[in-house]
Amino acid sequence: EDHAVANAPTLDALAQQVASCTRCAELAETRTQTVFGVGDPSARLCFIGEAPGAVEDRLGEPFVGRAGKLLTDIIEKGMRLRREDVYILNILKCRPPGNRDPAKEEAAECREYLDAQIAHVAPRLILAVGRIAAHELLDSDAPVGRLRGKEHDYRGIPLVVTYHPAYLLRSPSQKAKAWDDLRLALRCFRGVAA
Ligand code: URA
Repeated sequence: EDHAVANAPTLDALAQQVASCTRCAELAETRTQTVFGVGDPSARLCFIGEAPGAVEDRLGEPFVGRAGKLLTDIIEKGMRLRREDVYILNILKCRPPGNRDPAKEEAAECREYLDAQIAHVAPRLILAVGRIAAHELLDSDAPVGRLRGKEHDYRGIPLVVTYHPAYLLRSPSQKAKAWDDLRLALRCFRGVAA
Protein backbone atom coordinates (compact mmCIF):
# COMPACT_ATOMS: atom_id res chain seq x y z
CA GLU A 1 0.00 0.00 0.00
CA ASP A 2 2.89 2.35 0.75
CA HIS A 3 4.02 1.53 -2.75
CA ALA A 4 0.69 2.76 -4.08
CA VAL A 5 1.33 6.10 -2.38
CA ALA A 6 4.62 6.80 -4.13
CA ASN A 7 3.14 5.63 -7.43
CA ALA A 8 -0.24 7.37 -7.22
CA PRO A 9 -0.91 8.23 -10.86
CA THR A 10 -2.54 11.60 -10.15
CA LEU A 11 -2.79 14.16 -7.39
CA ASP A 12 -6.48 13.23 -7.00
CA ALA A 13 -5.59 9.57 -6.47
CA LEU A 14 -3.02 10.62 -3.89
CA ALA A 15 -5.57 12.87 -2.16
CA GLN A 16 -7.92 9.91 -1.88
CA GLN A 17 -5.21 7.83 -0.25
CA VAL A 18 -4.42 10.65 2.14
CA ALA A 19 -8.12 11.03 3.03
CA SER A 20 -8.15 7.58 4.61
CA CYS A 21 -4.65 7.69 6.13
CA THR A 22 -4.38 6.42 9.70
CA ARG A 23 -0.58 6.42 10.08
CA CYS A 24 -0.78 8.89 12.97
CA ALA A 25 -3.42 7.33 15.21
CA GLU A 26 -4.03 10.47 17.27
CA LEU A 27 -4.43 12.79 14.29
CA ALA A 28 -6.65 10.36 12.41
CA GLU A 29 -8.83 10.23 15.50
CA THR A 30 -9.06 13.97 16.17
CA ARG A 31 -9.25 15.45 12.64
CA THR A 32 -12.52 16.35 10.95
CA GLN A 33 -10.93 15.60 7.59
CA THR A 34 -7.55 15.66 5.91
CA VAL A 35 -6.43 18.86 4.17
CA PHE A 36 -4.50 17.89 1.07
CA GLY A 37 -3.67 20.94 -1.04
CA VAL A 38 -5.26 23.53 -3.30
CA GLY A 39 -4.45 25.36 -6.49
CA ASP A 40 -3.05 24.64 -9.92
CA PRO A 41 -1.68 21.06 -10.01
CA SER A 42 0.97 22.20 -12.47
CA ALA A 43 1.77 25.48 -10.71
CA ARG A 44 5.26 26.91 -11.02
CA LEU A 45 5.15 28.14 -7.45
CA CYS A 46 4.35 26.11 -4.32
CA PHE A 47 3.67 27.50 -0.83
CA ILE A 48 4.30 24.96 1.91
CA GLY A 49 2.93 25.71 5.37
CA GLU A 50 2.83 23.82 8.62
CA ALA A 51 -0.48 22.05 9.22
CA PRO A 52 -4.21 22.74 9.05
CA GLY A 53 -5.72 24.87 11.78
CA ALA A 54 -9.30 24.77 13.03
CA VAL A 55 -10.84 26.48 10.01
CA GLU A 56 -8.84 24.40 7.52
CA ASP A 57 -9.83 21.21 9.35
CA ARG A 58 -13.47 22.24 9.06
CA LEU A 59 -13.35 23.36 5.40
CA GLY A 60 -10.80 20.90 4.00
CA GLU A 61 -8.66 23.58 2.34
CA PRO A 62 -5.24 24.93 3.42
CA PHE A 63 -4.77 28.55 4.50
CA VAL A 64 -8.38 29.71 4.66
CA GLY A 65 -8.40 31.03 8.25
CA ARG A 66 -7.01 34.32 9.51
CA ALA A 67 -3.39 33.50 8.61
CA GLY A 68 -4.66 32.16 5.30
CA LYS A 69 -6.28 35.49 4.44
CA LEU A 70 -2.91 37.17 4.98
CA LEU A 71 -1.17 34.53 2.84
CA THR A 72 -3.74 35.16 0.10
CA ASP A 73 -2.98 38.90 0.30
CA ILE A 74 0.74 38.13 0.14
CA ILE A 75 0.18 36.08 -3.02
CA GLU A 76 -2.30 38.40 -4.70
CA LYS A 77 -1.38 41.89 -3.53
CA GLY A 78 2.28 41.30 -2.69
CA MET A 79 3.30 39.05 -5.55
CA ARG A 80 0.55 39.96 -8.01
CA LEU A 81 -0.24 36.32 -8.66
CA ARG A 82 -3.59 34.60 -8.29
CA ARG A 83 -4.20 32.16 -5.46
CA GLU A 84 -5.64 29.65 -7.93
CA ASP A 85 -2.49 29.82 -10.07
CA VAL A 86 -0.12 28.64 -7.31
CA TYR A 87 -0.26 25.43 -5.29
CA ILE A 88 -0.68 25.58 -1.52
CA LEU A 89 -0.06 22.67 0.82
CA ASN A 90 1.17 21.84 4.30
CA ILE A 91 3.79 19.60 5.87
CA LEU A 92 0.99 17.80 7.75
CA LYS A 93 -2.34 16.92 6.18
CA CYS A 94 -4.09 16.67 9.55
CA ARG A 95 -4.73 19.28 12.22
CA PRO A 96 -2.72 18.70 15.38
CA PRO A 97 -5.14 18.99 18.31
CA GLY A 98 -5.16 22.47 19.81
CA ASN A 99 -2.82 23.56 16.99
CA ARG A 100 0.21 22.17 18.80
CA ASP A 101 3.41 21.89 16.77
CA PRO A 102 3.58 18.84 14.54
CA ALA A 103 5.64 16.06 16.12
CA LYS A 104 8.78 15.01 14.24
CA GLU A 105 7.29 11.53 13.84
CA GLU A 106 4.10 12.96 12.35
CA ALA A 107 6.04 15.00 9.82
CA ALA A 108 8.04 11.88 8.98
CA GLU A 109 4.88 9.83 8.42
CA CYS A 110 3.44 12.55 6.17
CA ARG A 111 6.67 13.14 4.26
CA GLU A 112 5.91 10.59 1.59
CA TYR A 113 2.68 12.41 0.73
CA LEU A 114 4.46 15.76 0.69
CA ASP A 115 7.20 14.50 -1.60
CA ALA A 116 4.67 12.86 -3.93
CA GLN A 117 2.74 16.14 -4.12
CA ILE A 118 5.90 18.08 -4.91
CA ALA A 119 6.85 15.49 -7.54
CA HIS A 120 3.43 15.77 -9.20
CA VAL A 121 3.33 19.56 -9.21
CA ALA A 122 7.04 19.90 -10.02
CA PRO A 123 7.17 23.62 -9.17
CA ARG A 124 10.03 25.86 -10.23
CA LEU A 125 10.17 27.44 -6.80
CA ILE A 126 9.09 26.48 -3.30
CA LEU A 127 8.25 29.06 -0.65
CA ALA A 128 8.67 27.48 2.78
CA VAL A 129 6.24 29.35 4.99
CA GLY A 130 7.39 29.48 8.59
CA ARG A 131 9.66 27.59 10.92
CA ILE A 132 8.08 24.13 10.73
CA ALA A 133 8.15 23.97 6.93
CA ALA A 134 11.65 25.44 6.74
CA HIS A 135 13.03 23.02 9.31
CA GLU A 136 11.38 20.00 7.75
CA LEU A 137 12.38 20.80 4.17
CA LEU A 138 15.91 21.98 4.91
CA ASP A 139 16.63 19.51 7.70
CA SER A 140 17.81 22.43 9.80
CA ASP A 141 16.93 23.87 13.17
CA ALA A 142 18.26 27.37 12.52
CA PRO A 143 15.87 30.25 13.21
CA VAL A 144 13.79 31.50 10.28
CA GLY A 145 15.65 34.79 10.63
CA ARG A 146 18.80 33.01 9.55
CA LEU A 147 17.27 30.78 6.87
CA ARG A 148 15.45 33.58 5.07
CA GLY A 149 17.19 35.96 2.67
CA LYS A 150 18.87 33.35 0.53
CA GLU A 151 18.04 30.75 -2.04
CA HIS A 152 18.17 27.14 -0.82
CA ASP A 153 17.57 23.95 -2.75
CA TYR A 154 15.10 21.16 -2.10
CA ARG A 155 15.91 18.15 -4.28
CA GLY A 156 16.88 20.36 -7.18
CA ILE A 157 14.05 22.88 -6.69
CA PRO A 158 15.00 26.41 -5.56
CA LEU A 159 13.51 27.16 -2.14
CA VAL A 160 13.04 30.44 -0.29
CA VAL A 161 12.08 30.70 3.39
CA THR A 162 9.79 33.37 4.76
CA TYR A 163 7.90 34.12 7.97
CA HIS A 164 4.59 32.44 8.67
CA PRO A 165 1.60 34.78 8.22
CA ALA A 166 0.38 33.84 11.72
CA TYR A 167 3.72 35.17 13.01
CA LEU A 168 3.37 38.32 10.91
CA LEU A 169 -0.05 38.89 12.45
CA ARG A 170 1.59 38.77 15.89
CA SER A 171 4.71 40.70 14.85
CA PRO A 172 3.73 43.18 12.14
CA SER A 173 7.12 44.86 12.42
CA GLN A 174 8.55 41.86 10.54
CA LYS A 175 6.40 42.52 7.50
CA ALA A 176 9.14 44.56 5.83
CA LYS A 177 11.42 41.52 5.91
CA ALA A 178 8.66 39.30 4.57
CA TRP A 179 8.32 41.78 1.75
CA ASP A 180 12.03 41.38 1.00
CA ASP A 181 11.50 37.60 0.96
CA LEU A 182 8.78 37.96 -1.65
CA ARG A 183 11.03 40.07 -3.82
CA LEU A 184 13.77 37.46 -3.50
CA ALA A 185 11.27 34.72 -4.37
CA LEU A 186 10.05 36.59 -7.43
CA ARG A 187 13.64 37.09 -8.53
CA CYS A 188 14.43 33.38 -8.15
CA PHE A 189 11.16 32.49 -9.81
CA ARG A 190 11.70 34.71 -12.80
CA GLY A 191 15.35 33.74 -12.97
CA VAL A 192 14.52 30.06 -13.34
CA ALA A 193 11.46 30.72 -15.50
CA ALA A 194 13.47 32.69 -18.06
N1 URA B 1 -1.30 27.57 9.00
C1 URA B 1 -0.63 26.71 8.20
O1 URA B 1 0.56 26.54 8.30
N2 URA B 1 -1.34 26.06 7.28
C2 URA B 1 -2.65 26.22 7.09
O2 URA B 1 -3.21 25.57 6.21
C3 URA B 1 -3.32 27.12 7.95
C4 URA B 1 -2.62 27.80 8.88
